Amino acid sequence: MAGYFEPYDALDDKTREISRAISSLREELEAVDYYNQRVATSTDPQLRSIMAHNRDEEIEHACMTIEWLRRNMDKWDDELKDYLFTEGDITALEEGSAGSETSGSAGSSLGLGKLG
Ligand SMILES: [Fe+2]
Ligand SMILES: [Fe+2]
Repeated sequence: MAGYFEPYDALDDKTREISRAISSLREELEAVDYYNQRVATSTDPQLRSIMAHNRDEEIEHACMTIEWLRRNMDKWDDELKDYLFTEGDITALEEGSAGSETSGSAGSSLGLGKLG
């Protein structure tokens, strides 16, 4: 079966569902790029507007899929809490990196990681 890197029969149902989600996320992100390039290059204002609408919907689809992954695959929740809606140097947020203590404690002191 296309898209699998290990024998399909060796994969459990959960892993198959995760693979479907990751494939879908890849497709949504590709679509965002397609439409965004068309927005940048189309000279017809109405067509640009439609392409922008479509691009933004693909971003919505990608975010919905990321949320599904957050709920259904280990590690996404932790990483999204570490990196999303932060400010400043993103690489400094990584655990153990210089500066992560400052950024991390600032974030957790707001309790943002515990919302939802
Ligand atoms: Fe639409
Ligand atoms: Fe989509």
